[in-house]
Amino acid sequence: MEYAIQTDGLCKEFDGFRAVDDVSLRVERGAFYGFLGPNGAGKSTTIKILTGLMGPTAGAARVLGADIHRDGLAVKQRIGIVPEDLCLFENLTAREYLTFIGRMYRLPRPVIEERREELLSLLGLESEAKKLLLEFSHGMQKKVALAAALIHDPDLLFLDEPFEGLDALASRTIRLTLERFVGRESTIFLSSHILAIVERLCSHVGIIHRGKLVTEGPLAELAAEGSLEQAFIDLVGEPEQTSRSLSWLEGNG
Ligand SMILES: Nc1ncnc2c1ncn2[C@@H]1O[C@H](COP(=O)(O)OP(=O)(O)OP(=O)(O)O)[C@@H](O)[C@H]1O
Ligand SMILES: [Mg+2]
Repeated sequence: MEYAIQTDGLCKEFDGFRAVDDVSLRVERGAFYGFLGPNGAGKSTTIKILTGLMGPTAGAARVLGADIHRDGLAVKQRIGIVPEDLCLFENLTAREYLTFIGRMYRLPRPVIEERREELLSLLGLESEAKKLLLEFSHGMQKKVALAAALIHDPDLLFLDEPFEGLDALASRTIRLTLERFVGRESTIFLSSHILAIVERLCSHVGIIHRGKLVTEGPLAELAAEGSLEQAFIDLVGEPEQTSRSLSWLEGNG
């Protein structure tokens, strides 16, 4: 089977510290894959490698059947990404930014205009026409990043914490949009700490801890004996951490 994402022995070292340690992932086409792990586990670093933003120090990564580092441009044309630190061009308005992104993907102008207006309307941003992105709130910027990741109708979406900072209405709209997106055999690779959303959306889950992939498989198998939260805590939780407390909160005064 040709996977949407396949990595073998992927490693990334920073000054001798292994942020990603021998990760071998398999993500099937059409999967909604939730990539979980505690803070600092290596999720964003893995996503940066898989989207060609950073090279690995060892191992290989194939994305949509091609080597992301050898055939980077061909792969990048077919993927969309919402990175952790959004990286928008903040001196543009949302319309200007989406037009720029559409042109970067060489979409015809009428297609850009049609999709741009649909995206702005879906995300409730049409009335913010005059504001520059630097004047947008964090949640509004996140919506623009998501619109930019969708405008060229990619085959594979990488979303690093896309729900963080979004209100309940926006979160619902985006959940429904993503469900439709994978319903058409496109693939999503999502990192999130909101396990309730992962449980609701994802077909497959991988958990990374201290750079190592500790489990991977269909959600139903992983959460077979209870909730995803329980499975997560069982796999990565450290008992002394959950029982720790602050000394000055312990007194009864
Ligand atoms: N550019 C860098 N230079 C040095 N160390 C880095 C760099 N980027 C990440 N790291 C380290 O690699 C480890 C993994 O970081 P990463 O950002 O991938 O974690 P994460 O799983 O995305 O965490 P979070 O849930 O907090 O976003 C951390 O220990 C981090 O300090
Ligand atoms: Mg991260």
